Amino acid sequence: MRRLLRNLLRLPARTFSGLQQFSNPVNRLQRRAERCVATWFAPEHRKKLESINGFSSVREVHLLAYLASLAPVAVDPLLPGVQPADRSLTTSATVAKVVRLRGCIVEIGAFKGRSTAYLVEGAQRNPLRPAVISIDPHLRDTWDDFQRTVAEFGLCERGLEIIRGFSADVGRSWRQPIGLLWVDGCHEYAEVCKDIDRFTPHVLPGGWVVFDDAHGGHFPGVEKAVAEKMLRNSAFRHVGTLKHFEVFQR
Ligand SMILES: C[S@@+](CC[C@H](N)C(=O)[O-])C[C@H]1O[C@@H](n2cnc3c(N)ncnc32)[C@H](O)[C@@H]1O
Repeated sequence: MRRLLRNLLRLPARTFSGLQQFSNPVNRLQRRAERCVATWFAPEHRKKLESINGFSSVREVHLLAYLASLAPVAVDPLLPGVQPADRSLTTSATVAKVVRLRGCIVEIGAFKGRSTAYLVEGAQRNPLRPAVISIDPHLRDTWDDFQRTVAEFGLCERGLEIIRGFSADVGRSWRQPIGLLWVDGCHEYAEVCKDIDRFTPHVLPGGWVVFDDAHGGHFPGVEKAVAEKMLRNSAFRHVGTLKHFEVFQR
């Protein structure tokens, strides 16, 4: 009887939080992702993808794939971020040259290729078929498993480019526009700050930035970097939180 009463008293708060969850923009995005991604794969392929070893849940990787499919990657050559050298290339405006300026999708932290495979699946459904550039030093014996995933799903034939290195080093000379930046590499505060500083200035208007482990209290370094450099950054809108993901849009 006491439990029933307690549950009844909690009902309004629960209903309110359920409604809040339902209308949260990132949850709406997630529901759209589920509806869309469900139509992409034959059951056998879906099962194979889900069996790739990795840290992100199926819901999370579906959201990543969906964002890759709609990431804005067409580059306006007159945007302030476009290098003057590239801009002069496009003033003569041949389509081929403009295509060279296409934005890409960047993955920081691949592990055994689970999120990589979903990003490539999404990018393949993006009308401009952007390349997915995966950056990871593969220090902890993940290289062979990663290579197995890459081969099994034919990822390089479908637009994957692999950079075996540290994101901070790669980011130092980065200049390609980015439609979706997925940050799941080193979880130390200083390294996440470098990832943010070196890659987010290249994110295109309307482009997405997604951090893993930026919510939930397990990785304070990631949470601190995201709070300081993203939540207070007026160039980005905080779309919301999905489990351990923090999602931003430029
Ligand atoms: C949590 S795992 C990535 C999981 C993967 N995104 C997935 O969803 O399956 C973190 C990865 O980051 C990589 N890593 C660690 N330090 C890095 C750095 N400085 N730059 C890029 N990747 C790094 C590790 O080698 C590891 O494979």
